[in-house]
Amino acid sequence: MKKILKVVVGLITLTVALALVGCGGEKQSKNELLVGTEPAFAPFEFQAENSQEFTGFDIDLIKALGKEMGYEKTTIQSMGFDALIPALEAKNIDVAIAGITITEERAQKIIFSQPYYRSGLAVVVNQENDSIRGVEDLKGKKIAVQIGTTGAMMAETIEGAEIKTFNSNGEACLELKNKAVDAVIGDLPVESYFLQQQGNNYAKIVGETLSSENYGIAIAKNNPDLAKKLNQALETLKENGEYNKIYAKWFGSI
Ligand code: ARG
Repeated sequence: MKKILKVVVGLITLTVALALVGCGGEKQSKNELLVGTEPAFAPFEFQAENSQEFTGFDIDLIKALGKEMGYEKTTIQSMGFDALIPALEAKNIDVAIAGITITEERAQKIIFSQPYYRSGLAVVVNQENDSIRGVEDLKGKKIAVQIGTTGAMMAETIEGAEIKTFNSNGEACLELKNKAVDAVIGDLPVESYFLQQQGNNYAKIVGETLSSENYGIAIAKNNPDLAKKLNQALETLKENGEYNKIYAKWFGSI
């Protein structure tokens, strides 16, 4: 009797052990690309009206890149712009795409992909403002910017300027509409899109483009393999016409 019990226990143990091994073997390699963005930055990332879904140039691009890299799913997570690099460092996300300008300072903390979009900064003022004609007229003025952006950094270099920071470009523009600031400094393509969509009745862009910037996708410093894969995929999309298709969808002609 004892012998039979021993055999039964032995068999159960073996079955459980085999099942565990089986489970381990079946475990899928991670097949989801986790993407962080700050989605109030049309036409790069935004929520379409009456929709929870994120859309825009960056969103289409990262989804196409995800597919090209062989991920089954690309999941977009929304967070503050200044939270993106910390989220990468904490491994909460795999990549960040948010119209992020490639800067030396940022490149010390994260890896940037190859540039994927050429951008610059613009000054926005109220329609009736005739005294501010460009950045040279902003000394000692009140300027609204989005927190942690290159627009904010530019504003900080202006003598005597009083800077108000906001969580999104839209909030900065609202402050301008309310006449609580004299100007907004932000990314040219985003400000132009904003003017086309809703801002035209009260705001305008003045002066020349303030800077020449390139957007890059951010990857954690300790993930150079992913950075390499991402750059390869970007190159493929540029070669096979997919990048141009996405570009034309959002910006018209190339
Ligand atoms: N290009 C600017 C920067 O890198 C602004 C980017 C803001 N992006 C956003 N999704 N809110 O600082």
